[in-house]
Amino acid sequence: MRRAILIAATLLLPIALTGCKRKVSNKPIGKTVQIHVPLGLPALPIPADNPPTAETIALGRRLFYDTHVSVDNTLSCASCHDPKAYFTDGKNVSTGVRGSLGTRNAPTILNAAYLPFQFWDGRAITLEQQAAFPIANPVEMSQPHAADVSKLGDDPQYRSMFKSAFGTDDVNIERVEEALASFERTALTGNSAFDRYQYGGDKTALTPAQLRGFMVYLDPTRGNCASCHSVGAHDALFTDGEFHNTGQGVNDSGSFSDVGRFHETKIATDTGAFKTPTLRNIAGTAPYMHDGGLKTLKAVVDFYAGQGNSSPYLDPEMKKIHLTGQDRTDLVEFLQSLTGDVAPNLGPPDK
Ligand code: HEC
Ligand code: HEC
Repeated sequence: MRRAILIAATLLLPIALTGCKRKVSNKPIGKTVQIHVPLGLPALPIPADNPPTAETIALGRRLFYDTHVSVDNTLSCASCHDPKAYFTDGKNVSTGVRGSLGTRNAPTILNAAYLPFQFWDGRAITLEQQAAFPIANPVEMSQPHAADVSKLGDDPQYRSMFKSAFGTDDVNIERVEEALASFERTALTGNSAFDRYQYGGDKTALTPAQLRGFMVYLDPTRGNCASCHSVGAHDALFTDGEFHNTGQGVNDSGSFSDVGRFHETKIATDTGAFKTPTLRNIAGTAPYMHDGGLKTLKAVVDFYAGQGNSSPYLDPEMKKIHLTGQDRTDLVEFLQSLTGDVAPNLGPPDK
């Protein structure tokens, strides 16, 4: 995991060093835009000090796809959060600059705006902090790359974008975080077949197998999935935003090479607990789990049918469930109904 942080640190370090020469306002100056929320999602939380504007969103979009944000100009955020794979990278664990292997699977950024915690271990709260996190940790920023410091500020197009977004052409890390966060807030997904069935009144939207699978999903004695991957009365994020030990990643001696939430809280029972991930678009974001350890949805369902993996702190909701072969097939079918529309204007910006 240290690796994953390092990767991100190297990625953002150059920009970290460009800011803070004098006090400037980092509040967006433009008109706040209303972000369209698709069927199946709750109202979008917006921080008071960073309302999304057309200018900050456009800036964030450019930064997200810009390899100049990485130390050796090889990686952008999109290298690991690729729009073609619902903003994941299809790898077990991500690869950082110079081929360094991370320890965790890249989660989607779609609907991350709703999450009460960012990262598998929740070490950041907001999207702004998520981008800031590596920078706030001096231990991880092990090698200053002074040569790269002025990369973004040297680019006249960036300077004019910062100016129209924030009023002056200062390029600083807070502005970078805010712009990235505002772009990510537009990265919403919903209106899947499930949403049309459950929230849109279209009782034909799910196939009979998907509908049976949904019943298994909800039933506490069969799937029991909804106890962690929540489905609300009016909307569904498919996550309770909390941390649970499913036993994924436990080794033969019963310990975890990645302690997950424990890393943050130092509470013993958090050992091996990870944030419940969303299940939206899950059919398109294999491999699964924090370590990419499960390759298919069938493997995930079989994992749950076996009550996860034995582990001292196994979550009490990882109970003995009874799933027939048919139940499992239906459950996989249901998970396939969660693939929805993705907001427009999320791809690489025009040059
Ligand atoms: C080298 C691959 C890589 C790059 C580059 C990268 N990420 Fe990530 N990202 C990851 C991994 C892996 C995680 C999970 C790490 C963890 O939980 O410890 C993650 C987590 C996240 C999350 C949290 C999502 C959640 O559900 O918790 C967000 C948001 C995010 N990244 C946005 C970004 C942004 C913005 C950038 C560019 C500044 C970026 N990432 C660059 C691999 C990458
Ligand atoms: C005790 C809470 C809990 C229950 C019950 C639960 N899950 Fe999970 N689920 C999690 C957590 C936590 C993870 C991440 C675990 C990890 O990576 O170590 C996860 C991961 C997943 C993933 C992988 C997502 C990804 O992006 O990698 C899928 C798919 C999934 N669960 C489906 C299900 C299904 C289907 C059920 C019901 C049979 C279910 N879950 C029951 C908490 C739960």
